[in-house]
Amino acid sequence: MIKVITYGTFDLFHEGHFRILQRAKQLGDYLIVGVTTEDYDQARGKLNVIDSLMTRIENVRKTGFADEIIIEESQGQKFRDIKKYQVDIFTVGSDWIGQFDYLKDYCKVVYLDRTKNISSTMLRIQNKRIQRIGVIGTGRIAVRFIPEAKLVSGVSVEAVYNPHIESAIQYANRWKLDYYRELEDFYQAVDSVYIASPHETHYGYIKSALEHGKHVLCEKPMVLKGEQAKELFALAKEQNRILFEGIKTAYCPGFGKLMAMACSGLIGTVRNVEACFTKLENPKSRELTDLQYGGSFLELGSYVMLPIIKMFGPAPEQVQFERINGENGLDLFTKAYFRYPNGLGTATCGLGVKSEGQLLISGTKGYILAEAPWWKTAYFEIHHEDPTDVEKFSERFLGSGLRYEISDFLSMINGNDKNGFKLTPEESGAMAGVMEQFMERRNPAAGK
Ligand code: CTP
Repeated sequence: MIKVITYGTFDLFHEGHFRILQRAKQLGDYLIVGVTTEDYDQARGKLNVIDSLMTRIENVRKTGFADEIIIEESQGQKFRDIKKYQVDIFTVGSDWIGQFDYLKDYCKVVYLDRTKNISSTMLRIQNKRIQRIGVIGTGRIAVRFIPEAKLVSGVSVEAVYNPHIESAIQYANRWKLDYYRELEDFYQAVDSVYIASPHETHYGYIKSALEHGKHVLCEKPMVLKGEQAKELFALAKEQNRILFEGIKTAYCPGFGKLMAMACSGLIGTVRNVEACFTKLENPKSRELTDLQYGGSFLELGSYVMLPIIKMFGPAPEQVQFERINGENGLDLFTKAYFRYPNGLGTATCGLGVKSEGQLLISGTKGYILAEAPWWKTAYFEIHHEDPTDVEKFSERFLGSGLRYEISDFLSMINGNDKNGFKLTPEESGAMAGVMEQFMERRNPAAGK
């Protein structure tokens, strides 16, 4: 008996899929089809898969070509499957030519011609109108946004707005976008906006974008007052639009896995979370000279608060701050202490003090440790009482990681709210509330 194996995502099942399965089956007597899991697709950078794993399996099953359906969940699995199922022929479409030649040592590898003019990507784009995104602000993060957005099917960055018209023109020329002098005209040209302007301008832009019926993805910290966050999320709901805070860590697959492990009892009940992120900044930078909106906590606080708020919830009993200020009164190094009825959190960040940035989540049976850069989570360990008992986990973190939040933003816009739990309005609101407390209590020399 000749055994054949093939793999795919098989999202929005189409004729190309049907034809490849049909031809794969004809190559032998017994066909095994590997269908990818959502996590694996996300980890390998295939974002925006629409159908659930169950639906995709069911669609493969309905063709009647598969004698056996298996799940593909990790890299390296193909080799193991070939051995395990004693496969004679491995086959995939011609879009993969050469990429699986390494399997030739173990079985025959056949690349079948891809069916022309059809793909899941094409169908995703046709199904949902492309989201035209406009960028507000043209700083460092905004520059990272465009190459990442290009990797998410279904979005197209079309326009830029910056009241400093020279910067807008420069950015527009670099990325071949339209720029607008008037915000009204800019809104006319887009369906959603990505806000990466200075912190203090976020509130105004979010409000006006929502009022113009646009979906909003806003860089962290979204706003600096708890009430403002509440007001804006209520406005988004009223306008039936998505408002999303862009803390990239919250949406990356590794951090999701880490949170899931922390919540699954492996380390018992979580009692303490310590998160640290430091980055030595040029003393002349905006971050260290803007007396009103600079400083380490406004810059990095969102990252270090995130795991604490995610683990213990949006309502700490008490938050206290300790900070080392520079001569101009801005915080160079800050610690925020969170107290909950049954847990403690410490969020440490610095722009003028360097430290080992790590995330430590301690529970009644063990702890999770993720070293810097844990905010781009790619690796973490679970430790127990016995120091030799260490479990290691890794997950891919691709590019600058904005692709994950853009992809989740898009799926929310398209009516799929299954990723909404990654950062809820309540959690964003709680972080804005802590920012507000920090600003109220900081050295008056730094202004209010
Ligand atoms: N395939 C094919 N002809 C097409 C599309 C896909 O033969 N027009 C084959 C692929 O080469 C692969 C299998 O179908 O062997 C599963 O592909 P998959 O990646 O799930 O489908 P795509 O339509 O290529 O998906 P996407 O656009 O998301 O990459």
